[in-house]
Amino acid sequence: MNKPMRRFDEVRLQTTRLDLRPLQAGDAPALLALFSDPVAMRYWSTPPWTSIEQAQASIAVDLDGLPKGEHLRLGLQSRDDGQLLGTCSLFALHPTSRRGEIGYLLRSDVWGRGLMHEALQALVQFAFGELQLHRLEADIDPRNAASARSLQRLGFTKEGHLRERWIVDGEVSDTALYGLLRSEWPGPAYPQSDGRR
Ligand SMILES: CC(C)(COP(=O)(O)OP(=O)(O)OC[C@H]1O[C@@H](n2cnc3c(N)ncnc32)[C@H](O)[C@@H]1OP(=O)(O)O)[C@@H](O)C(=O)NCCC(=O)NCCS
Repeated sequence: MNKPMRRFDEVRLQTTRLDLRPLQAGDAPALLALFSDPVAMRYWSTPPWTSIEQAQASIAVDLDGLPKGEHLRLGLQSRDDGQLLGTCSLFALHPTSRRGEIGYLLRSDVWGRGLMHEALQALVQFAFGELQLHRLEADIDPRNAASARSLQRLGFTKEGHLRERWIVDGEVSDTALYGLLRSEWPGPAYPQSDGRR
């Protein structure tokens, strides 16, 4: 992984309908609304959140980790009305192999409008552009059709099926592992990384 042009807490990406920006302490109520939504959390790696303290603790992890470049999580803020509609992340970064994993969650009442596709195009472009990653991965529940479709639309390939890899609230589930190589991504090379294609 190359040193990014900006520290992660300074990263701002823009798409047609969204501003992608790091979360701040004041986002805790909106973040709780996202991560307590049982529909959006159906295939997540944790149960739905139940308290504002979970949102505050999660934002505190970002405020500590972003300046260190440990992970990048960006909020999806509507350019129409300023509402926080979701988050997308780059984590499990492996600098020598220039590899990272993406994660994403969108408020369920705005699914199906291509919003996450827009956000992920910008995030993937940042990862392959400014960060110069070589490979991206995504670990999803094989039953999560919307997520699989989102990854396919970005050009990810399903590379494997890992059995009984997660236990969430007592429910055992498998992993579908997806991968995307820099050489498969049609976006511009470094240093353009503003999400425009
Ligand atoms: C996955 C998710 C981000 C997709 O967001 P979205 O903005 O609705 O996605 P898009 O509108 O870009 O749609 C992507 C594709 O999925 C399809 N899709 C959307 N909702 C769907 C659903 N409930 N079931 C099946 N397909 C669905 C869309 O039709 C589209 O397919 P297309 O390219 O053939 O038109 C959203 O469903 C979500 O937040 N899910 C919960 C969190 C999650 O599971 N995250 C993944 C784990 S890391």
